[in-house]
Amino acid sequence: MRGGYVWNRTRARVGVVLLVCILLALGHTRANAVRTNKRHSHTTTLSTSSTSPGGGPSLVRLAFAGSDEVGQPTGVSVSWSTGPKPKDLKSVVLLGTEQGNLTLRVESTAPGSQVTYLAGGTTHHHVEVTGLEPDTTYYYRCGDDSSGDDSSMLSEEHSFRTAPDVRAGAKGFTVAVWGDMGAGNCSQKTREMMQALSPSVDFAWHLGDIAYQDDWLFLDFAYEKVLDEYMASMEFFSATRAYMTLAGNHECDCHSIRCILDSELRNSLHNFTAYNARYRMPSKESGGIMNMWYSFNYGPVHFVNLDSETDYYGAAEGEHDEFYLLDSGHFNPYPNAYMEWLEEDLKQANSVANRTLRPWVIAGTHRPMYLYGNASSMREAVEDLLIKYDVDLFLGGHIHSYFRTYPAKAGEAVKDYSPEARAGKLVNIITGTPGAIDRPMRGGGVLARAGDWVASVLSKAGRAAYERVVPWLTGGPRHDPRRDAEALEDDMSIVAHHTHEQSFGMLHILNDSAIRWELVSSETGESIDRLELTK
Ligand SMILES: [Fe+2]
Repeated sequence: MRGGYVWNRTRARVGVVLLVCILLALGHTRANAVRTNKRHSHTTTLSTSSTSPGGGPSLVRLAFAGSDEVGQPTGVSVSWSTGPKPKDLKSVVLLGTEQGNLTLRVESTAPGSQVTYLAGGTTHHHVEVTGLEPDTTYYYRCGDDSSGDDSSMLSEEHSFRTAPDVRAGAKGFTVAVWGDMGAGNCSQKTREMMQALSPSVDFAWHLGDIAYQDDWLFLDFAYEKVLDEYMASMEFFSATRAYMTLAGNHECDCHSIRCILDSELRNSLHNFTAYNARYRMPSKESGGIMNMWYSFNYGPVHFVNLDSETDYYGAAEGEHDEFYLLDSGHFNPYPNAYMEWLEEDLKQANSVANRTLRPWVIAGTHRPMYLYGNASSMREAVEDLLIKYDVDLFLGGHIHSYFRTYPAKAGEAVKDYSPEARAGKLVNIITGTPGAIDRPMRGGGVLARAGDWVASVLSKAGRAAYERVVPWLTGGPRHDPRRDAEALEDDMSIVAHHTHEQSFGMLHILNDSAIRWELVSSETGESIDRLELTK
């Protein structure tokens, strides 16, 4: 085994060297904004192309915030980005319940209300707007209102609806759910279908691997550009309803060639820095940590967000990223804090009082517990815990495929979804099919456009090839098709439905005794898998 390990590491190094040589030959840079790196006396391309050159807000996104006496969100965090800071910008949200009449003003100067993680790069603003009326539509603009109603410094007017008060009765709602999406052509169909269906969606839940900005193959620095492009393309969701996120392995760091060669970029982007800077999940309301683990309530459901990447025994990125390049993890304020938090959160959610108010407990994370080579770490860490506290549904991504299992535990399943059969077992759904391949190639350069074309071809034919080539180059086990095949063979007995079709999930909470899961085809909008669970 040791010989195999050494051989894998050798192949990894040979692969990286080969890639560097090829890409040096293809050397290509694209200038959008330039900063001078004094330490290295060279210039580094920083792309802020999606942000307004005048410093106005872009990439507007919302997440639930606040907590009332029964733990329901009372508002949202409003987040947005501005280009290289021209001066001291304010972080302000103007809002009201009438269109065009924004009489409420909230400014945040709290630590963390403006975050910049790259010198000379984008600033990310976060303002919490809480204490709002439940189940009410609010209109808002965000930005800097110093110049009055200067539209270049304030966003356009958007609206959102606050969470309902479950004490007024369990109201049905719909959540769009998916993992592994990415920018560019490969997910375009999904994006279009999501936009078409967005009027019926109350909030979005992205189960990690958001933009795939980390794997750029060319020599220019595209991390920020790809991430900006993805977030801009999803503003139709994120500016008008909560866009809840989880950390996936592609949020961990930047291991593109440029980042490997530039220690400042590499270090500035390591350990989920960009992910934690750009989004603002309700971790302080739920005792969680940053955007890594947290929970929230909405209607008759408790949503618990698990960290599948770090801070538990066997976590794939608990000590370093999967390429063994950079340190990662250690968000725990003390040993085992994450697992203790998870147990306490589930225990509270499962109390009689909370189950009466919110009968459903649904868990989401990035890596699944079954159906890929390295799933056993997650399974060993959380399966018993989730079942002990009677979690109703477990959602994940990471695999670019779709699986729905029967109620299962320790690899054994019952082919029956009735409440009685589900007791002591857990239904797993893996929804990683919106279209991502690990090469988001978009941009203005000739090579980038060529890459875009290649990506569009690869999106159909190359996914399988990619999953064979990359593990060989990196020596990494996570996408080793042989291991996946073995795992699949073992796990397929628990699978009720499996498809590779490009798709995403819609979770319909019908009332306090019924939920319906639906897999929606990105191509046709038709339901291609469906499951109803009752209490
Ligand atoms: Fe992943």
